[in-house]
This record gives sequence, C-alpha cells and structure tokens, in this order.
Amino acid sequence: MNSSDFILTPWESKGDIDYTRLVERFGLNVISDDIRRQVADAAGEDHFLLRRKIFFSHRDLDVILHSYQNGPGFFLYTGRGPSGNTHIGHLIPWMFAQWLQSRFGATMYFQLTDDEKFYRDSKLSLDDTYNLALQNARDFAALGFDPDKTHILINSQHINTLYPLAAQAAKKINYSNTKASFGFGNDTNIGMIFYTALQSAPCFLEKRPVLIPLGVDQDPHFRLTRDIAPVLRYPKPALIHNIMIPSLTGSSSKMSASSENSAVYTTDTAKQIRQKINKYAYSGGQESVAKHRQLGGDTQSDVSFLYLWMFFEPNDSKINQIKEEYESGSMLSGELKQILIESMVTYMERHQNRRESVNIKEFMFDETEYKNKMRR
Ligand code: TRP
Repeated sequence: MNSSDFILTPWESKGDIDYTRLVERFGLNVISDDIRRQVADAAGEDHFLLRRKIFFSHRDLDVILHSYQNGPGFFLYTGRGPSGNTHIGHLIPWMFAQWLQSRFGATMYFQLTDDEKFYRDSKLSLDDTYNLALQNARDFAALGFDPDKTHILINSQHINTLYPLAAQAAKKINYSNTKASFGFGNDTNIGMIFYTALQSAPCFLEKRPVLIPLGVDQDPHFRLTRDIAPVLRYPKPALIHNIMIPSLTGSSSKMSASSENSAVYTTDTAKQIRQKINKYAYSGGQESVAKHRQLGGDTQSDVSFLYLWMFFEPNDSKINQIKEEYESGSMLSGELKQILIESMVTYMERHQNRRESVNIKEFMFDETEYKNKMRR
C-alpha cells in the first residue's frame, strides 16, 4: 500500500479515504443538486447533512422518491454491529434516519448484529455482544424514533423471522463474489462468510422499496444484496451513504469503537469529553499563536471544526462564522475546542437522560405483530 492509498471495507479502514477515488472504486452515484432539491421538496425541509454533503452518494434514491410520490411508499432500514459503546460516528446515519422517518412517516427496522461482532472479534463472547446490543439499542431509541413505527431486531433473538429471509439470500450469493467483496481467505470462519445473508435479510421484511442510510463502508454488503434482489423478486435496496467521521486523532479513516481515545462515546462524562477534546482532538492550528494569527487555521483537517460541521452545529450562519474566524486567525485552536466542548457536553447530557428513560421494550421487534401485519 503506498502512502496515498487507502483501504475501506466493513471491517477495515486504513489510510486517508479519497472520496473521488472511492466513488469510482465502489461505483457510487454522487448526490446531485437536483436530487438534493427533490428530497428537500418532498420532505418539506432541507437537512444540513444533505446540504453539507455529509450524505454524499446514493443508489436508487430517485426510485425511492418516485415510490413515495406515486407508488407503495418505502420503508427504512439501518443497523449496528455491537462491538463497543456508541460514538458520534454511529449517530450520524441514525439521526438522519430519524429525520427521514419523521418527514416521510416511514417504518424503520434497526438490526443489531451481535453474531457478526462475535464472529469478527476474538475477545468478545456472544453474551458480550448481546449485552452491547441492548446498550446500543438505547442510544438508537433515544434519538426520537416513533415507537409504533420502529422495530429493533437483534440477530440472535429474532432469528425466527430473519432466517428464512437470510436463507433465500444465501442460496443466491456465491462464494467467489463474497470473497472478492471482502477479501476472505481459507482461514476466515464460515460465520463471516454467511453473514452478508443476514445483513441482507431485513431488506426483505416488506415487499416494497427500502431506503438504507448508512456509512459508506457498509456499501459492499448491499452491492451483493442488490445483485440478488431481482432474482428473489424484491426491489433492489436503495442506499444513501454518509462519509466516515474522522477519529479524534485526526485521520480521515473512520472512528473505531474499539480504541478508547480515538472517539467520544455517548457514555462519556462531561469531564471525559473535556479531557479527550483538549488532549486528543487533532488541531489544524499553527504551532505558535503569532503564526496562527498570521496564517490562520486549517478547517479541512481540524477535528474540532469537523465535528461541529458534521454534527454539533447545524446552523449555517454560526458554522460559517466559526470557519471565517478560525481561518483568518482571529480564533485560536483552544477557543475552537471550547466551542465544540460546550455543544458536545450539552448534547450528551440530554442524550444520556433520554437514553436512561427510554422504554426499550416499545421498540423491540414483535414477531407476532409482524406476522399478522404481513398476512393482511
Ligand atoms: N455491519 C454493520 C456494522 O458493523 C451493522 C449493520 C447491520 C448495518 N445491518 C446494517 C449497517 C444495515 C448499516 C445498514 O455496524
């Protein structure tokens, strides 16, 4: 791998991601101004994650809009591999999914893949990943989803519903395609090899188009799902991808839930947040105050700025003012960090209250209810 090269798969992220090259490599469709406007018109509101191109590419988003306006509508699906606590990188697609649900009234399925993370991680037991799944479910539910329209599935618990759908998918996905997509070898356990079938299964919970908001690293699974969907007589799942949020220490490779100081977690206290940002958040500032006043800071690489841009400061005039002041040198790196810390602490305190008080049972997938609904 040369220095400008990068790797991005669902399980690995190395080097700085070059999005122009990723679009070519994965064959993604960049979201055009036109389709962005169509989404905003249909939703009756413009979302800052779309406006700022945090959600930057898609597959068949136009099909979803068409189905919403003229056809059977659509449902939403996304998921999480419970390998650790939730960090703000996970919250981005979920927050966007919640907005989509509230604007389009769509049913939402959320899959927690405790099996996947058990297969993948040599240290976590199936009990560990299941317990993390319950914790992660709280973070998801705390974001304001409608409990009547939101169904959380945990693979090990809801396998009765998922297995027949996964079996349909598994029969059509061959080994050479999975191997080519994920780089599996002879030492890969067969749980991993089968796993894409389970991540595909929720796409087939309903016989109408599905839209999946997701980190772009998950695209390879759904390329396989999209190939086989027509054979199973289902619409191809549509995708809307967000860029990866940088780790605290500032590479554009994604945040990792498995290294403590590379991310801010939803379980962190105000004190921990303050310490992490002050100590680890990569700064795009200059090495001395004098030089910073003269040259200004770099907002493209400054992690504190990027977190505000991607998550904590949705207000355009406020973020633009911060950008201007930081780039001109009138705002120092320490001052920028304070702005981020304040928004983050406020957000997390509110989130943690909701997380504790949410009634998770209301959100859990109910097999009987689902069967009755499907029979109608
Ligand atoms: N594999 C995903 C992860 O590691 C979890 C997941 C399951 C998912 N289904 C999904 C992610 C659908 C996005 C969309 O986090």
